[in-house]
Amino acid sequence: MDKIVIQGGRRLRGSVPVSGAKNAALPLLFATLLGSGVSRLQNVPELRDIRTVAKLLQIFGAEVRCDDGSMEVDTRSVLSVEAPYELVKTMRASVLSLGPLLARFGHARVSLPGGCAIGARPINLHLKGLEAMGAEIELDHGYVEARAARLKGARIYLDLPTVTGTENLMMAATLARGETVLENAACEPEIVDLAEALIKMGATIEGAGTDTIRIQGADDLVPYEHKTMPDRIEAGTFLVAGAITGGDLTVTGARERHLEALIAKLREAGAAVTETGSGLHVSAPERLSAVDIKTSYHPGFPTDMQAQFMALMCLAEGTSLIRENVFENRFMHVCELQRMGADITIDGHTAKIKGVESLCGAPVMATDLRASASLVLAGLAAENTTEVARIYHLDRGYEKIERKLVAVGASIERVAAD
Ligand code: UD1
Repeated sequence: MDKIVIQGGRRLRGSVPVSGAKNAALPLLFATLLGSGVSRLQNVPELRDIRTVAKLLQIFGAEVRCDDGSMEVDTRSVLSVEAPYELVKTMRASVLSLGPLLARFGHARVSLPGGCAIGARPINLHLKGLEAMGAEIELDHGYVEARAARLKGARIYLDLPTVTGTENLMMAATLARGETVLENAACEPEIVDLAEALIKMGATIEGAGTDTIRIQGADDLVPYEHKTMPDRIEAGTFLVAGAITGGDLTVTGARERHLEALIAKLREAGAAVTETGSGLHVSAPERLSAVDIKTSYHPGFPTDMQAQFMALMCLAEGTSLIRENVFENRFMHVCELQRMGADITIDGHTAKIKGVESLCGAPVMATDLRASASLVLAGLAAENTTEVARIYHLDRGYEKIERKLVAVGASIERVAAD
């Protein structure tokens, strides 16, 4: 299995480009199932999760063509409505097939995703919403079986503003009879991107990006042509990479309005972040100051940036408190950072980080995507060599990360393990 080997201590300088957003491309690809014909999606990152969606769409019977960042999905020959466990277990977001399949074909059978490294992550709110729209739902042999001749519009209050739950229900509602109102909906930028594509398909949607989304159901939808938004978490990771190396980096394609909480915290810590015509520029002194963060739903500080920000705080001057409010078990990077010399103690959902003057490279491994990113960041700033194992996690969310970082001065390479 490949690993990433980093010689730390180099300041990053220059421009690094942001790819299309994984978390936007996933629902956008499942949304193609809502219409019959050929949809075209541009700016699709080349990532393992995207290949998993392509495989699933092919299992349903769609034809999928990928060409240099573009994907064409022809849904005219979709026959199957079953998402098998073998694929769902490798990518939780497969559950996003449930809403579109049920809405268009009246039936869907999707494996339950099961537990994952960052917590239980149930899908009860997706199911409750579909039931409110008239679906009959059964659990059978680890599969969710949902049926409805035609879904009907409903007023649905989400107990938590779940991101994929909001996406699933918004997609389902586009083909329901009548109006659906999603209250306490997630406001993430990826939801706005999905709504834009659904509107191109002929859907009527108001309020995406706010906590109340209104959808008027249509009898049928047509295929879309759309360009995926830039990946705000990849962009945020590069901003932290610039800051943790005391660098001078432009992240091209990054959008300030997607990253306001992170940018505010980077500035509070002493980094300079400015908008340029092409993206965001970050520069930082040799040592930043400790700041506290609490993760939250958008527009709060994203849980998907918590691990990376913790790597930054490991080297800051002073003590910072990081509270994880979205997932119950998202501190698995802590013991690996400790192995690199970080001074971190955990108390429930809060990590207390006493900044140290230097980290020391070590062999480390991560258990999830963003944790892997935090170890790469720590490695970029650490003395000596850091080897990050199990990089299949990293490959789920970061396109060509080592090539992008080498181009701005990092010493980092992918090495095939023995
Ligand atoms: C999405 C993102 C993920 C990000 C997360 C939070 C995608 C593909 N993934 O994941 O990168 O970390 O948002 O920003 O977009 N919950 C329930 N019941 C449900 C659904 C969720 O209790 O039916 C809880 C979860 O356990 C969690 C919280 O709600 O505590 C938020 O989860 P959710 O927003 O659903 O995360 P995902 O959509 O899975």
